[in-house]
Amino acid sequence: MALFDFTVEGTSGHARAAAFETAHGTAKTPMFMPVGTHATVKGVTTDQLADLGAQVVLANTYHLSMRPGADLIAEAGGLHSFMQWDGPILTDSGGFQIFSLADTRKLDDDGVWFQSIYDGSKIRWTPESNMEIQQKLGADIVMQLDQCAPYPATREFVEGAVDLSARWAARCLAAHTKADQALFGIVQGGMHLDLRLQSVERLLEAGRASVEAGHKDFQGFGIGGYSVGEEHDVMFETLGQVARALPDAKPRYLMGVGNPTTLVRAVREGVDMFDCVLPTRTARMGTAFSSTGRMNMRNAKYTRDFGPLDDACTCPVCAKYSRAYIRHLVKSSEMLGGMLLSVHNLHYLLDLMRRAREAVLAGAYEEFYEEWMASPAANDY
Ligand code: GUN
Ligand code: ZN
Repeated sequence: MALFDFTVEGTSGHARAAAFETAHGTAKTPMFMPVGTHATVKGVTTDQLADLGAQVVLANTYHLSMRPGADLIAEAGGLHSFMQWDGPILTDSGGFQIFSLADTRKLDDDGVWFQSIYDGSKIRWTPESNMEIQQKLGADIVMQLDQCAPYPATREFVEGAVDLSARWAARCLAAHTKADQALFGIVQGGMHLDLRLQSVERLLEAGRASVEAGHKDFQGFGIGGYSVGEEHDVMFETLGQVARALPDAKPRYLMGVGNPTTLVRAVREGVDMFDCVLPTRTARMGTAFSSTGRMNMRNAKYTRDFGPLDDACTCPVCAKYSRAYIRHLVKSSEMLGGMLLSVHNLHYLLDLMRRAREAVLAGAYEEFYEEWMASPAANDY
């Protein structure tokens, strides 16, 4: 297997099971990728992540470039060594954060000015400087700098985001030189199918032009600009056609989506990779995913419930701890409560994608999907 090979091992309808080769090991898809924005999956050690079977871990360029800074991480030997994670790492470019977090930003053709949320300082990014930062961080997979349109937005605005993201895609390809690092383009286009397909074409065109110039192509594609406040079903009006307009031989990554039912549905449309803060964020708020739907562990009904969080769960937390104990921790604002729930919730999504993969390999994804949609957890948005 060569670096960045994406081998489709099985299909079932549009769903795929594949293997993606990175410099830090093979990732098996469909997969959920835990989010470690600040080079830590909140409340969970990397040893625990490995035990849970996490494959790729995310980190964020926006946050890390400001604190502690890309030079410091490079000095530590890169993200893998800094955070002690030996498996694959993916960094998001920070494009999404510039457009969602900063109060002020100023776009021009060449790049973007924005204000740091840490100290208010003015920061200038171009596709070239963003690639330089992500190469210093040293992840296995990096995302192009892009513009994510909010929702709702005018069609003109979304057109502008598609155009700018496509032009930045070409510049990211030209600026990216780290041979053991994959670069993914990002599809934009809001909820407009024609703009989405245009975005795909522009990315493919940028890849072809780059190869013709003797440079690299994209090794995969992010599907961005969804889950920005639209109703759940709105994304599915276009997602399948967008995913399948992308090359069969490269991974498709639906960015920022982590609701269990949405994952099950998106795999059915041909998506391979997902990331979301949902499992760890909801854990810190005291919520557990379960086979019978979400559970708010603050609820008084768990006071004397000495059974596990979820009878159907095989995670290390459910093997040991009771609902009553976890409720006590959450009610007492003990940090262990959020930590245990994070492990359980991560296991839930990692395991869901492992089972999805098994179903695809067995040629039975439709049965898996039907069974999921008929289960009590399916209503759990
Ligand atoms: N995370 C979730 N959505 C997006 C997106 O559209 N762009 C980027 N860069 N990251 C995301
Ligand atoms: Zn569990």
